[in-house]
Amino acid sequence: MPTRLNRNQYALVFGGTGAVGGAVLRGLARAHIPTVFTYLHSEELAKSLSQELGQRAVRVDLEKPEQVRGLSEELANAETPPSIFIHCAAVSRQLKLGEITDGDWQSTLAINGQAPFVACQALAPAMAARKEGHIVIVGALDRTQSLPLPVHYAASQGLVSAMVMALAKELGPSGICVNLVALGLLDSGLSREISPKMREDYKTFSALRRIGTPEEAARAILWLALENTFMTGKVLPANGGI
Ligand SMILES: NC(=O)c1ccc[n+]([C@@H]2O[C@H](COP(=O)([O-])OP(=O)(O)OC[C@H]3O[C@@H](n4cnc5c(N)ncnc54)[C@H](OP(=O)(O)O)[C@@H]3O)[C@@H](O)[C@H]2O)c1
Repeated sequence: MPTRLNRNQYALVFGGTGAVGGAVLRGLARAHIPTVFTYLHSEELAKSLSQELGQRAVRVDLEKPEQVRGLSEELANAETPPSIFIHCAAVSRQLKLGEITDGDWQSTLAINGQAPFVACQALAPAMAARKEGHIVIVGALDRTQSLPLPVHYAASQGLVSAMVMALAKELGPSGICVNLVALGLLDSGLSREISPKMREDYKTFSALRRIGTPEEAARAILWLALENTFMTGKVLPANGGI
């Protein structure tokens, strides 16, 4: 369990209704960190998580930067602004190059990349004022990997990986750590789009010979959010050794 518990910690989680986001919310609840999380379509799930965990759910379309900015600025200006920001929302459709429309490209980059950028812009001044902040972006691509991903999704993953590096350099002097967790294939969530063949290949080529769980993903994410104090600008691969 987290060792750096601080009564003044406050978390904002994008995509709390996702497979990984839900496991992250449960971990934050166990650590007694007050949390606000976003959802879009999964309203019933958001309501039940909110009731069960005592966390505030806010409906935000992360494709729309003005909605992301609205919530982030509201929280940044609150009495206790977020000290932790975790981006767990993403979209990915298994499309071939010729099938990717302009709309697919724009929405994928907006949700996976622009939304955390806008949130960081809005939240960073308040984190800097308290000389502490923990930003964790969840993605899928370790910069050393070569994986058969849809091109628009891969582009969004390259974006967040480079953005984390630059954000860490700019925000480090203010005491803010920014890192990316690059997850391997999990047994739920976005992996629902993956073919059985790719799933079997993953098991064959990963060191642990299996896919992961959202709870295992959340452990790596929460370590960065709650315990890490000296790692920044890096990609933490939690992928079973692929
Ligand atoms: N699952 C895997 O196998 C896997 C593998 C590698 C990496 N990852 C990474 O892990 C992270 C979480 O993935 P996951 O598997 O938990 O995904 P997931 O279960 O499909 O959840 C996606 C989340 O994103 C939210 N979302 C999508 N579009 C949105 C929009 N326009 N506005 C607001 N929210 C939106 C969804 O909210 P609603 O449902 O409420 O609409 C949901 O909370 C992603 O960064 C993904 O790249 C996952």
